[in-house]
Amino acid sequence: MTYYHSYLGLDELLSAQHPLSSAHEEMLFIITHQTHELWFKQILHELESAKNILAQHILPDQQLLLLHSRLRRITEIQKVLIAQIRVLETMTPMEFLDFRDHLNPASGFQSMQFRLVENTLGLTRDTRIKYKKAHYCQFLTQEHQSIVNQAELEPNIHQLVDQWLARLPILVYKDFDFWKQYQHSVNQLLIQEEKSIRIAQLNETELQERLQSVQNSRDSFRTIFEENIYNEHLAHGKRRLSYQAWKAALFINLYRDTPAFQMPFQILSLLVDIDELLTSWRVSHSLMVHRMLGLKSGTGGSSGYEYLKATATYHKCFPDLFNISEYLIPKSFLPSLPKGAALSLTTMDS
Ligand code: HEM
Repeated sequence: MTYYHSYLGLDELLSAQHPLSSAHEEMLFIITHQTHELWFKQILHELESAKNILAQHILPDQQLLLLHSRLRRITEIQKVLIAQIRVLETMTPMEFLDFRDHLNPASGFQSMQFRLVENTLGLTRDTRIKYKKAHYCQFLTQEHQSIVNQAELEPNIHQLVDQWLARLPILVYKDFDFWKQYQHSVNQLLIQEEKSIRIAQLNETELQERLQSVQNSRDSFRTIFEENIYNEHLAHGKRRLSYQAWKAALFINLYRDTPAFQMPFQILSLLVDIDELLTSWRVSHSLMVHRMLGLKSGTGGSSGYEYLKATATYHKCFPDLFNISEYLIPKSFLPSLPKGAALSLTTMDS
């Protein structure tokens, strides 16, 4: 007969807290880390399922819905994790000092599951900030190194989303060529902007500034209109999505009101939410560290707050999806979709 206590393995779970000191707060410190690790396990479980869904060549609508629910669950867990930091902050810096020395040289930096979450989402080796001038792997046990290295070799969510987007046959539909029409609309928009600046009553400095800003937009659009420039930026890490996938992501963002593109849009938005919430966790964690340690270095030996602040700024998994807003244009300039393009994506998938 199933019994609550044994089904949940509570003997193991509740006897897994081993404080190294007699400090009252150490229990909270351990439990906050352990609950984080349990939730990391659940996030990895959802990410594994998301990967399996994305790996299918054809993604029927029901599968998109399932993918959506997996990703949304991750965002809800992330909110819980951010809230947990507030609980740990009820410990004062002096109370932390009562047991901190016992922790050396252990650090959350060695969380294997946290690295797996980052790797599975698509944070790559070359986009990571170096820790004590070395790769994070060097601070893990051999066993953990081989697990995270393996995860780096497997297709990650970023790559699978890229392949899914690149497969969507939405850019050319019968006589409708999205890319040509979009470029035309952008040109019209920029011409109109320039005209209205010229007829506005501006002084010379204002006029030049506003014209320069139109020129900046024109230059920025060139980086996406010209495939060779785009690919150069891709090679230098300024973009991460392939050209075809990036155009599909833009298309989905522009036509998100059309029934067939609503779910894909929700999915892209959830990926941005996950990235944003991960950054919010990093910021909350780094502020907690600042509060607990000031500018002292961490038990793992990093610069502490400064290192963590930098990861919050640079460790992004889907930067292209954030930056795409720069290329959105007003609805009044949006080329109309031909009839039939508003079908389900499944029926259009090749
Ligand atoms: C008093 C509470 C905490 C302090 C003072 C603290 C301090 C630090 C410091 C200084 C680092 C940088 C590495 C180092 O030099 O050690 C770090 C990294 C990290 N900590 Fe914490 N931490 C705390 C709580 C937590 C909790 C509850 C978690 C949850 C799992 C956690 C997870 C991590 C992770 C994943 C990293 C690596 C971040 C990265 O490399 O981007 N920390 N922590």
